[in-house]
Amino acid sequence: MKVLLIGPPGAGKGTQAHKLGKEFDLPHLSAGQLLREAIEAETEAGKRARPYIDNGQLVPEEIVVKIMSREMFDRPGRDGFIADGFPRNIDQYEQLNRELDKRDEKIDVAIQLDLDEEDIVERLSGRMTCSECGRNYHVEFYPPETEGVCDACGGSLYERNDDNLKTIKQRLNVYRNESVPVIKELEKDGILERVDASGRIDEVFEKACEVIESRFHARAGNHD
Ligand code: AP5
Repeated sequence: MKVLLIGPPGAGKGTQAHKLGKEFDLPHLSAGQLLREAIEAETEAGKRARPYIDNGQLVPEEIVVKIMSREMFDRPGRDGFIADGFPRNIDQYEQLNRELDKRDEKIDVAIQLDLDEEDIVERLSGRMTCSECGRNYHVEFYPPETEGVCDACGGSLYERNDDNLKTIKQRLNVYRNESVPVIKELEKDGILERVDASGRIDEVFEKACEVIESRFHARAGNHD
């Protein structure tokens, strides 16, 4: 099963993709997290990507498409995924479709998480991310059991550089200008499903599960 999660910054893509990956036994491929790992590892791609991420702009295609194609198509035995934050512009969507066509494969469903701007700012302002495994928490809505420590791996939690108001606004502009046209294409292609992301994490999760189950009957049921 190949699933895309798309939506504005802070809508909950990473949170839901992690849970859906466990539920449906699929790898969670986060473009943003893979780029942050490349930055942390100080690879050439990471060094080039850093200023774009810090300024809330899209990282150049040749970097992000290469990283995501490798994860989506080149890992032995990998037969599906939940891709979070990719594709983010029309060029990336066209490149993804070319790779899928070569293999006679297709995206099964693209889930758009909808959230208004006020909630986005509130969620991103309180986000804490694990420096080891990339898992997201929120100081109020989803706090870790021990302050500053990841429940899953014990890594320390940090605030992302791009979660300041100025960069959040820039990321929202990029979303409107570059990613909303992709949503229109996904709709034309008959694979778009919308999920209201304004409820609690488990409520949004149930709605996303229903969307996937309406196309498949394949829950693995691996919970945290
Ligand atoms: P990326 O890391 O993908 O950032 P983003 O799209 O801005 O999305 P976020 O990670 O900020 O939010 P999210 O929707 O995953 O929400 P989360 O689950 O964390 O990308 C970062 C940068 O990398 C981009 O700006 C760009 O520079 C680059 N990049 C990435 N992909 C690229 C691409 N394809 N092409 C080029 N460049 C690319 O939740 C947010 C917070 O809310 C958390 O604290 C969470 O605990 C909380 N929360 C989640 N759900 C709920 C809920 N239902 N109720 C209450 N709180 C909730």
